[in-house]
Amino acid sequence: LTGELPFKSTDTLELIHCHIAKNPAAPAQIIPEIPEAISKIVMKLLAKTAEERYQSAWGLKADLETCLTQLQTTGKIDNFPIGQLDYASQLIVPQKLYGRQQEVATLMAAFDRVAGDGTNPTTTELLLVSGYSGIGKTSIIKEIHKPIVRQRGYFIAGKFDQFKRNIPYACIIQAFQSLMRQLLTEPTDKLQIWKNKLLAALGQNGQVIIDVIPEVELIIGKQPEIPQLPPTEAENRFNRVFKQFIYVFTQKEHPLVIFLDDLQWADSATLKLMQLLMTEPDSQYLLLIGAYRDNEVSYTHPLIKTIEEIQKSGISVNHIVLQPLNLDEVKQLIADTLKQTTEKVNSLAELIFNQTGGNPFFLTQLLQELKSENLLTFNFSSLPTGGTKGEWQWNIEEIKAIGIADKSAVELVASRIEKLPKATQEVLKLAACVGNRFTLDVLSIVNEKSPSETAIELYWALQTGLIIPLSESYKIPLVFDLEKSKIYSVAYKFLHDRVQQAAYFLIPESQKKATHLKIGRLLLKNAPAEEIEANIFDIVNQLNLGSDILIQESEKDELARLNLIAGRKAKAAIAYELAFKYLNAGLELLSANAWDNNYDLTWALYVEATESAYLSGEFEPMRQKADIVVQKAKTLLDKIKVYECKILACVAEEKLLEGIEIALQTLKLLGVNFPEEPTEEDINRALAETASLIPENGIEGLMNLPPISDAYSLATIQILTSILP
Ligand SMILES: Nc1ncnc2c1ncn2[C@@H]1O[C@H](COP(=O)(O)OP(=O)(O)O)[C@@H](O)[C@H]1O
Ligand SMILES: [Mg+2]
Repeated sequence: LTGELPFKSTDTLELIHCHIAKNPAAPAQIIPEIPEAISKIVMKLLAKTAEERYQSAWGLKADLETCLTQLQTTGKIDNFPIGQLDYASQLIVPQKLYGRQQEVATLMAAFDRVAGDGTNPTTTELLLVSGYSGIGKTSIIKEIHKPIVRQRGYFIAGKFDQFKRNIPYACIIQAFQSLMRQLLTEPTDKLQIWKNKLLAALGQNGQVIIDVIPEVELIIGKQPEIPQLPPTEAENRFNRVFKQFIYVFTQKEHPLVIFLDDLQWADSATLKLMQLLMTEPDSQYLLLIGAYRDNEVSYTHPLIKTIEEIQKSGISVNHIVLQPLNLDEVKQLIADTLKQTTEKVNSLAELIFNQTGGNPFFLTQLLQELKSENLLTFNFSSLPTGGTKGEWQWNIEEIKAIGIADKSAVELVASRIEKLPKATQEVLKLAACVGNRFTLDVLSIVNEKSPSETAIELYWALQTGLIIPLSESYKIPLVFDLEKSKIYSVAYKFLHDRVQQAAYFLIPESQKKATHLKIGRLLLKNAPAEEIEANIFDIVNQLNLGSDILIQESEKDELARLNLIAGRKAKAAIAYELAFKYLNAGLELLSANAWDNNYDLTWALYVEATESAYLSGEFEPMRQKADIVVQKAKTLLDKIKVYECKILACVAEEKLLEGIEIALQTLKLLGVNFPEEPTEEDINRALAETASLIPENGIEGLMNLPPISDAYSLATIQILTSILP
């Protein structure tokens, strides 16, 4: 056509580089007489990524035939939009909501109430959206994103992950990360205002927030260390500072909408925080939207308890129970997808409606499956007048006969995955273990291949729509080898939890543990030492899922140590129940003679477990652990913490006498004797002793004394304060 090659070079390497990275000049640029349409067709064929090229030879043929017809009738080829029939031959379900006007209106009304219309006092509201998986909960809430932003509201969202329930606040962190990123894109002067507001609100306590949401540091900069506090005070501080933090964003000028998706998988720490935010008397301009699968939460589920508590405190709680699409809506969806009239798709729509019950996720998957089984085909046919037309065709009887419509949603998706190339299936299984969202760098680590190879393997899943890229940058590794310079962070998500679940189910039961273990080991191996703590939950969760099949003592000990780190981190984030879980998992990994062989680790795990059991109100397990420490710990000082926990638990359960009893015994061990029934004489003597200790320059002199450093005295004080309410 042009008489020359797309790239001219004698150097092989340069040629390869050109093919990978450079766009050739368009034919019409080289020879102006070449018609624009022909030039565009050639460029489409030369496109770097497969999705930009023609999807079928039929699509190309159709465009060429249009050219031919034009040439034959008018003697020249006019410019026309190419690739239209090629596009039509792909089964694309329109990205819009069918039905749901009422529900979307309810959501917007809640926002309007919270934003305040100037007449009513503003409020805080909780709005729940429940319904079966795939029914469209996430979609309707996403629908109000734009209108809310238009009204200057902030809309932030986070999603719980079915396989990541052990990460405290994961969903809230995700939501605020996106808010911080939104803020970071503001002009410098605006950003400075945010910085000042946040600093004013947080004072010296910024680090409390940074510890849970690291992104905040990008805005407010490094913050002073926060003093260690005893647990109850630490909890109060966390709650107070978090409220101050939220308050910065919930203002008349910009109300805040927080959308927490898939609350059925929420961790207990998040539920507590949710309750705190909602029931705070000063809270304002805040709308919390929560979506959950009602068929997966029973009335004893912690979520239901939390909702009840919020309701009891007089907060307005509204509830949308999402129903399946009705037959008319299904008809419309199918007609739009197949570009036919509703009459024409009538019987197909009825069949699909009956099979899927009007569940939109299920029915779009079913349509895709029908297509890949060639039960739904796009037929190109030549027109007698020249050119090509095409339309979707199907045979109802054939579809009924083959029984394809009898599969469940997960089976259907699983069978779609099984049609992908083997390597793609494998990488999807790994991704399913990693999470609902995953990044290319993590996936390529667990896939043990380069980012580019991994991206290419994933590409087939992207094409089926089962995986969705979270940004355009996913195209880069398809063309460039990123091995050395991972400058781009490429992230993806599963189309839906059901897809993740289906991929996960394809891992044979006997290999699940080994897979998690392998992923955990690779993550650990590839994390630089200073990043282990930051990623500790992800690493430990994978390893714990496979810990049953660990054999080597040294590796078990290592995992126990990692669980200790995870437990401490959860404890620092006031997620006591999770802390207890991690510590327990750590304890279970210890060998029978761990007290002798690995004293420090064993002792630390037991003591931390005792304390976190106490803090989460698990008094019986707490006592069991404490008793073991009392028996096994080497020194008296090593036992003080668990004595303290035992005393505090007695106080909490109003068993004061028992608490005093334990305290007196402990004090006796420390060499401090209190008489059980003090006499007049005892009291006078103690008073005299105290008076004699006051320095010559009076009470103030005490202030100038150096802080106590004697461990025994400190322990004594610790025990004494635990018993004095
Ligand atoms: N009203 C609707 N009309 C058309 N498609 C819908 C509708 N609601 C949801 N979908 C599609 O169904 C799929 C599942 O919806 P999603 O909101 O993720 O469900 P859920 O959050 O309830 O599990 C999505 O791919 C979405 O595009
Ligand atoms: Mg959802």
